Amino acid sequence: MHQGRTTLSKFLIQQLKGAPEQSDLAALLVDIAAAVKAISAMTAKGELGGVLGSLDSINVQGETQKKLDLMSNQAFINTFSTGGLVAGLASEENDDPVEIDPRDGGGRFLALFDPLDGSSNIDVNVSVGSIFSVLRAPEGRAPVITDYLRPGKNQLAAGYAIYGPSTMFVLTVGKGTHGFTLDREVGNFILTHPLLQIPEDTSEFAINASNERFWEPPVQRYVAECKNGSTDVRQRDFNMRWIASMVADIHRILMRGGVFMYPRDTKDPSKEGRLRLMYEANPMSFVVEQAGGIGSTGRRRILDIEPEQIHQRVPVIIGSRNEVERLERYHRDYDSGIDEKYSSPLFQERSLFAS
Ligand code: AHG
Ligand code: MN
Ligand code: MN
Repeated sequence: MHQGRTTLSKFLIQQLKGAPEQSDLAALLVDIAAAVKAISAMTAKGELGGVLGSLDSINVQGETQKKLDLMSNQAFINTFSTGGLVAGLASEENDDPVEIDPRDGGGRFLALFDPLDGSSNIDVNVSVGSIFSVLRAPEGRAPVITDYLRPGKNQLAAGYAIYGPSTMFVLTVGKGTHGFTLDREVGNFILTHPLLQIPEDTSEFAINASNERFWEPPVQRYVAECKNGSTDVRQRDFNMRWIASMVADIHRILMRGGVFMYPRDTKDPSKEGRLRLMYEANPMSFVVEQAGGIGSTGRRRILDIEPEQIHQRVPVIIGSRNEVERLERYHRDYDSGIDEKYSSPLFQERSLFAS
């Protein structure tokens, strides 16, 4: 049994042969997988491991940190701090990027990550994940902030782990998106989902509908049409899912299609969106694009955004190609004033966005 299984290491050696940077990147991805295995073991223990619950601390996003947020953060930092592969790191849970002592590191890469995504799910035993993004570090000097603030199209690798009924590791180095499943007894990630392809069409959408009154009219229009289903322009019924972990929602979309939205809204006008560009939107967009989908703000490709801050937030509309393109069209129609219907009394909020 299990003859000819492709382990993560074997797969990476094959995908990343050639220049020294390539084999270093393979080594880094194997290191990230090791941190993921440690986090998988911690999350699986649940209450028995004393890992549930919150701490008194608040992170730079103004969010209360959970124990597992910090334990996962430490697992990644420990991994990146040794081995000579990483010159600096940036995490959701650290206010500023952290330089790795060149005596330990001096590596070729910068690692950016969301150590635990979907934190509100921890205490209720629902899927959570980790997200990572790898950029090239500057040569011959310590990294500075502008080295991190590169558009997502410069990522060398990106991916996520999902801690669900099984633990999976999904990654891209720009040669397609591939999924691995953790064989817990042996401790290996095995290639189970090579060359993932997101179906272009879907009848499933994911959005936190409690924010509906804060959305812009193009998103209200899209969701209204989905909800009207076969009685309206879409001519078919839609289904909705919301797990409150971007990783879990996007994993579902990679498996069977769909569109995930955390769009721009007016709930907190000081924030462009809910999700963070550098360690949520960029890596997930890279993974999704490499699987044939699209990552957009509704108005532009996420991977083209010139970042301004490490913890910057962006609107996110991501998933099946034809649905994201439809949402982009609705944004264009709205911005150019073509969309007469949705400036009607049904969506009086429009005037809020007209300036
Ligand atoms: P994190 O736990 O890393 O802060 O991220 C949670 C994010 C994202 O994963 C999820 O889609 C979204 O927040 C959920 O937001 P709501 O609480 O508004 O549903
Ligand atoms: Mn997150
Ligand atoms: Mn997080």
